[in-house]
Amino acid sequence: MNKNITVIPGDGIGPEVTRETLKVLNAVGAKFHHQFNFTHCLMGGIAIEKTGDPLPQETIDSCHKSDAVLLGAIGLPKYDNNPSLKVRPEQGLLKLRKELQLFANIRPVSTYKSLHHLSPLKEKQLTGVDFIIYRELTGGIYFGKKELNEAGTEASDLCIYNTDEISRIALLAFAAAQKRKKKLTLVDKANVLETSRLWRKNVQEISKNFADVKVDYMYVDNASMQIIVNPKQFDVMLTENMFGDILSDEASVISGSLGLLPSSSIGEVNALFEPIHGSYPQAAGKDIANPIGSVLSGALMMEYFGLNEEAKAIRDAVDWTLSNGFVTKDIDPVNSYFTSTIGELVSNYISNDIPQHSNIRNMALGQATII
Ligand code: IPM
Ligand code: MN
Repeated sequence: MNKNITVIPGDGIGPEVTRETLKVLNAVGAKFHHQFNFTHCLMGGIAIEKTGDPLPQETIDSCHKSDAVLLGAIGLPKYDNNPSLKVRPEQGLLKLRKELQLFANIRPVSTYKSLHHLSPLKEKQLTGVDFIIYRELTGGIYFGKKELNEAGTEASDLCIYNTDEISRIALLAFAAAQKRKKKLTLVDKANVLETSRLWRKNVQEISKNFADVKVDYMYVDNASMQIIVNPKQFDVMLTENMFGDILSDEASVISGSLGLLPSSSIGEVNALFEPIHGSYPQAAGKDIANPIGSVLSGALMMEYFGLNEEAKAIRDAVDWTLSNGFVTKDIDPVNSYFTSTIGELVSNYISNDIPQHSNIRNMALGQATII
């Protein structure tokens, strides 16, 4: 298989974690005889610095021509602390989502037994947690009309949805539920918001075609609590853009490290894969960031291409590193390994290039960072 991939390393730790994923994808390519062609493009803070535009046209064109996009992370502190700036790194990402019509953001939430102690939740709440969030990504309050009055004293953001926008992601979420535990929870605020009532009406309608999927409806305030007290009740969680943004960050800490979780953003034609963590600028350039969220985004990309065995090879390699204690500082501050070492170990495992266990430990130890 020959695939063209646009790579957008972005800001902060984005370039470092992305580099490791490219190593891993190259190892997969070599082992399974695929050719992955990478085109590097700019977006975010680095694009503003180099071109004045958070999303240069060249990047958009490359993404349109590619089979998939791999994104690192975007955002820099100097933009965060100044709300009056007109040009911001995030605009690049939002525009790209809209340009590529990436309407479904899919964020799996799972746990690793060896990392349970890192979770803010208790062991009894963690066992069996395995759900997936389907977040609508190109509509709602993110993209509705924004206004600020002339005096700069009043502002509004319109939350707007139509039936088509709701149905297309709902269909994907129902199809996913059918392949999983056959449960779908629509999270909304239908006791207050008209848009939420439209979501409920549409989802109720669609559910008639998925008789084997049990549907329940939950207000977002309750859902935010249920994610903490009883996360294993969820299978597929479907929600609108803003609620999904908030709930997916909340859910991400269940696993014990934000650095572990991948995501995909899918449209009819295009797809983008990125770790769910941000650009973590404090760690940039130190080779300490956790590359696993990005590497597992590579696994999601393989699945998107229909390469399930390849995806499994990546996941098996990641499981091997985690269960052998080859982890970055966010997971084990005492015995931690460099970002680049983890990437190498995962790639070598995929290439069957792992020497004797003791040797590998020594090799990795030689590169360990104890900070
Ligand atoms: C995310 C991010 C973005 C969002 C930001 C960077 C615009 O938080 O992907 O969840 O709010 O969608
Ligand atoms: Mn977010």
